[in-house]
Amino acid sequence: MLKWSVLILIFGAFSFSQVFADEDTTAGIQEYRDLLDDVNPAELWVFSGEELWYRKAGPKNASLETCDLGKGPGVTVGAYVELPRFFFDAQKVMDLEQRLIYCRTLIQGFSRADIISYPFTKRGQETSEIEMLVAYIASESRGLHMNIPLMRIEEKRVYELGKQFFHFRAGSHDFGCITCHSGDNQRIRLQELPNFRNKDEASKSYGSWPAYRVSAGEVRTMQHRLYDCLRQQRFPEPIYGSDLMTALIMFLAKSADGGLYEAPGIKR
Ligand code: HEC
Repeated sequence: MLKWSVLILIFGAFSFSQVFADEDTTAGIQEYRDLLDDVNPAELWVFSGEELWYRKAGPKNASLETCDLGKGPGVTVGAYVELPRFFFDAQKVMDLEQRLIYCRTLIQGFSRADIISYPFTKRGQETSEIEMLVAYIASESRGLHMNIPLMRIEEKRVYELGKQFFHFRAGSHDFGCITCHSGDNQRIRLQELPNFRNKDEASKSYGSWPAYRVSAGEVRTMQHRLYDCLRQQRFPEPIYGSDLMTALIMFLAKSADGGLYEAPGIKR
């Protein structure tokens, strides 16, 4: 029953997206969000992600139930709000997407190349398993607060790297994240630009990703969001699951520390 109502909503979402192509206003998006209220089309990704988590797969025919996301093997509740974090087994700091690559190679026996070859769903093609898994794990932290204490030296180091990269300006336009995300009430056309130096704005923004993108009709992960922004910044395309992306995510997560986590959200 629930799945069908979600599907009906998704068809609804499609027609709404047509309307928004013409009338791309913040007010319109807000109205759309209010209409969907609790039932975000992302729920479908959450269901599929949960199914994937428990389904045996890969050359080792294993489920992800023994994957440790930082709170013990198989614990999904509250994992996202404490990521990125340092993992002893891997001896490095990982965000959720990196950690999923790690678990799927080690536990399920997939090759890294296979997993990172299709991180983001392309129009008209099958849904990326990563997007489904990320939606599910994120949803398991809904209603909790971001908790990024940076207790370990490795975590502090990665945070500092992310902070540096956030402030780093280069390229044809001399842009950095800071160009578009450090002032209050900034907009590009009608899109509001969150100021990551403001705790409330950072929390509201970070706490809404991953998100169902109305314009794409897909759930997008934080790494995808960063791809999109680096493109706008005229920077080269990053490697999926690379350490620099984790560092940037660490900086954003820490900026939102203590804030309410409410994703998967819904975005233009
Ligand atoms: C040229 C301007 C520009 C630069 C540079 C830029 N962004 Fe963005 N960013 C945007 C725009 C525009 C949006 C909103 C997009 C939308 O609504 O579709 C956005 C959205 C975001 C969001 C999601 C906000 C939300 O609440 O949904 C995050 C997170 C983000 N940017 C991070 C970054 C980071 C990190 C960098 C540096 C790597 C960066 N951005 C560089 C323009 C930029």
